[in-house]
Amino acid sequence: MDISVKNQELTGILSNVLVIGIFEDDKTLSSGAKRVDEALLGLISEQIIKKEGFKAKFGDSVVVPTNLKIPSDKIMLAGLGKKKEFDTSKLCELMSKLIKQLDKTLGAKNISCELIGHQGANFDAQKCAEAMSIGILAGMYDFDKYKTKKNIPQIKKIRIATENTKDEKAAKAGVNTAKILCSAMDFTKDLINEPAQNATPEEIAQIAKNMSEDLGLTFKVYNKKQLQQMNFNAFLAVGQGSGREPKFIHLTYKPASKKPKKKIVLIGKGITFDSGGLDIKPANSMLTMKTDMSGCATVLGVIQAIAALKPDVEVLALSALCENMPSGMSYKQGDVLVAKNGKTIEVDNTDAEGRLTLADVLTYADELDADEVIDIATLTGACIVALGQNITGIMGNNPEMIKRIIKTGAQSGETLWELPIFDDMQEMLKSDIADMRNTGSRFAGASVAGRFLQNFTKSKNWAHLDIAGTAFIDKPYKELNKGATGVMVRTLTNYIMSM
Ligand code: BES
Ligand code: MN
Ligand code: ZN
Repeated sequence: MDISVKNQELTGILSNVLVIGIFEDDKTLSSGAKRVDEALLGLISEQIIKKEGFKAKFGDSVVVPTNLKIPSDKIMLAGLGKKKEFDTSKLCELMSKLIKQLDKTLGAKNISCELIGHQGANFDAQKCAEAMSIGILAGMYDFDKYKTKKNIPQIKKIRIATENTKDEKAAKAGVNTAKILCSAMDFTKDLINEPAQNATPEEIAQIAKNMSEDLGLTFKVYNKKQLQQMNFNAFLAVGQGSGREPKFIHLTYKPASKKPKKKIVLIGKGITFDSGGLDIKPANSMLTMKTDMSGCATVLGVIQAIAALKPDVEVLALSALCENMPSGMSYKQGDVLVAKNGKTIEVDNTDAEGRLTLADVLTYADELDADEVIDIATLTGACIVALGQNITGIMGNNPEMIKRIIKTGAQSGETLWELPIFDDMQEMLKSDIADMRNTGSRFAGASVAGRFLQNFTKSKNWAHLDIAGTAFIDKPYKELNKGATGVMVRTLTNYIMSM
């Protein structure tokens, strides 16, 4: 399926379906759509809007034949809802809905479309084309690798038509960005959706290596023996109950310039399966635990997009990959671990494993002298209780940095909400025999996990994103289908691009 942009009259495009947007409160057509209406002798304005009373509520649509008065076979009128409620995030959501209808219900092969909202709502042509394309591509995402009957899309071509060459150029840039972001998101989603039997630490390391070679990134991987020498003891303890060897991966994107503007470290939680360990999870909670490496998949997606967009920022992606399994070799309740930074941790609960793996990686990141450190993890059920499946939790030690990330999220169509970390939350982590334990009580779970992580970073610019609720959803949300979402790939990529 290909999306392209061309400066072209809507009345002159050959397609199966031509898509035109109409607002609920102001049914004025764009200048190009007006000419279509004229060619169709008032079919849109007189027949559909006036006579049949099409309300143009958000997401509603009607499809009518053109009787060959223009080269397109049919037109689809898409309701955009109220103008003041319509933004690029709504546009993205709309396109995701429409594209499924165009593909599955109408079986269209060749679609054309105006730059929806550009004239009516004054959207910038580039942002408008980007939002439309992200909606289309995200809407068409489907993980059918293991279905013997594949879902092959009917749609082959989508053409976005502009009315002048300035818009054409801008829209092309928008489509290009969308393609880069969505191919990174698809990569992230595929990796998350992949069963844990295949997405093992070793396999993910291999995928990251292949990707690095393709994109010209530097790649390093460390095995168990090397990690022992590097004192990744908290991480190794988590992985020791599994028959699969843990791996730590380190990817680097270096810009062409000698002195990049910034250096950013991204850390992704990489538990390829979280059974809970000896504190084994109940069956229902374990069902989706192949997704506990979503943080890793996210940072790999981001660095892939960054390699294509080439900002003047050095970007590092780190992930400690292992399985959390119960066995005769598992780490146990009451064990004391000496983390990489020398602090001791009493294991209170083997299911609070993510923070143990992240602790050592945060310490490793300290030695890299980065401007900012961001970790992203499916860390706590408590974050899901607090914020649900559609809002990512964010916390850290620099309020200004957190604000910037939240703002970038809003501009990227992704919602983040800050949760607090208070110094005195360390009380909840008190241990009788070690510097701290790895869990508190059942209160303020997401924040206490954040407080735990803070013990292992020296960075003054550290943010922690909890995607436990948002990485994998059981109901479709906005432009996202159910299953893995690729959440935060857009936000983090755009955040780095804005530096
Ligand atoms: N991977 C889980 C968190 C999680 C839960 C992610 C649901 C996605 C969906 C994490 O390792 C975990 O088990 N956290 C525990 C911590 C507790 C033992 C303090 C939790 O949230 O129950
Ligand atoms: Mn766990
Ligand atoms: Zn986990």
